[in-house]
Amino acid sequence: MIKKCLFPVAGYGTRFLPATKSMPKEILPIVNKPLVQYGVEEAIEAGLVDIGMVTGRGKRSIEDHFDVNYELEHQISGSDKEEYLASIREVMDKAAFSFTRQVEMRGLGDAILNGKRLIGDEPFGVVLSDDLCLPEEDGEGVMAQMVKLFKQFRCSIVAIQEVPDEMIHKFGVIEGEQIKDGLFQVTGMVEKPALEDAPSNLAIIGRYILTPDIFDIIEETPPGKNGEVQITDALLTQAKNGCVLAYKFKGRRFDCGSVEGFVEATNHVYENIYKA
Ligand code: G1P
Repeated sequence: MIKKCLFPVAGYGTRFLPATKSMPKEILPIVNKPLVQYGVEEAIEAGLVDIGMVTGRGKRSIEDHFDVNYELEHQISGSDKEEYLASIREVMDKAAFSFTRQVEMRGLGDAILNGKRLIGDEPFGVVLSDDLCLPEEDGEGVMAQMVKLFKQFRCSIVAIQEVPDEMIHKFGVIEGEQIKDGLFQVTGMVEKPALEDAPSNLAIIGRYILTPDIFDIIEETPPGKNGEVQITDALLTQAKNGCVLAYKFKGRRFDCGSVEGFVEATNHVYENIYKA
C-alpha cells in the first residue's frame, strides 16, 4: 500500500570537507557501511522497496553502491570474503532504485518536489540519511513504526524527538495536541526557530510519511527560512487544511550531519552492532 521512499541526497556535506570534496557524504561509512545504506535498510524493513533518490552533481558513487560491481564480485566469488557483500546484496535483491537529479539546491521542500515524477500519486516515505535512527533492542525501525500509524490514520506523519533548549534552533519544531501517548495532531510548525519563538521542545527528525497532495502544496510554498523552500512550511499548510501527525518514535537518533554525531554513531555501531 505504501511502497515508495524518497531519499534527498543532493547536499554538499560541507561540514565534512575535505572528505566530501569528491565523495558524497552519504557514502561516508559508519564502521563498514555507508550512511545511506542504513537508511535504505530501514525503509526496506518497513516494506518501502521502491527507493527514489534525488541526487546531484558528484553523487554518482551512490548509484554505483546500489548496483553490481562485476569485477569485484567475480574476484571474490567463492572465497570467504564474499560474506562482506552480504548486506548490500540483500538490499539489492529486495529493493529497486531510481535516481533523479536536483539541478539547483533550493531547500528540502524543493528536493522533495524534484521526486514527484518518481513518486507519482501515492503516499511515500522520506528518509534524511544524515539522521541515523537505530531501533531499540528487538524493536522495529522508525519507518516501520510510522507505516503502521499511517495505515491507521492515512495522513502525513513526521517523526519527532524532545531536544534540549540549546539544540532547538537546528530543527523544525512542532506545536500539537496529544491524541494518544507519543502521538500529536500538529497545529503549528516552525523551521529552525530561535529558542524564544519555539512552540515546544518537540523537534522534527528526518523521517516523514507524506501524502501526495504535498507536491501541489510545495509548488505553492514560497521560500522560507534561509531563502529555501521548506518542507516544514508545506506541512504546516497541510496541517491547517487537513491533518498532519507528529510521532515520538521509539529508538535512538544520531546526527550524522555533524562530526560529533558521526563519531558518536560510529562508536555506538562498533560496540553494539559490529562487534556484537
Ligand atoms: C531538515 C528539516 C528540519 C528537520 C531536520 C532534521 O533540516 O528542514 O525541519 O528538523 O532536517 O534533521 P536540515 O538538518 O536538513 O537543515
